[in-house]
Amino acid sequence: MKDKTSIIINEMISYYAKDPRRVNHFLKVFSFAKSIGELERLNEETQDILEVAAIMHDIGIKISEEKYNSCAGNYQEIEGPPIAREMLLKFKFDEKFIDRVCYLIGHHHTYSKIDGIDYQILIEADFLVNIYEDEIKSSQIESVKEKHFKTKVGIEFLTNLYL
Ligand SMILES: [Fe+2]
Repeated sequence: MKDKTSIIINEMISYYAKDPRRVNHFLKVFSFAKSIGELERLNEETQDILEVAAIMHDIGIKISEEKYNSCAGNYQEIEGPPIAREMLLKFKFDEKFIDRVCYLIGHHHTYSKIDGIDYQILIEADFLVNIYEDEIKSSQIESVKEKHFKTKVGIEFLTNLYL
């Protein structure tokens, strides 16, 4: 899968051409997700799904901004999966893999429907980056931890970074 993630990273860099902020965002989310997944001992298939979903998770943002002039989470969740599916089909990922990646992309702002470790880690990795990028106050970070962090490694990263 190593080269597959690099292929998707390459594809996403051209998708977000001239938008280094978005590229920096997904590279950081990818990196946290990859490490949490490995340290939490995910099986290979789940790890691969998590890594590809982390790279592509915000793919819907570009169309949301063009179409609705908004980057609100719900628009991203609607617009993201179809573009991601098209991209993944081009690289011959199998159907089941694509379905799960698209599901994660389509739900990564929905915190009430977490149904798997890949989903949980994606949420945690996105928070680890967003807390820094959005300058979330330390008083709020404790409540993010209580509400949204479940994995041992994710909690460790969050605590060592921000608490
Ligand atoms: Fe994100």
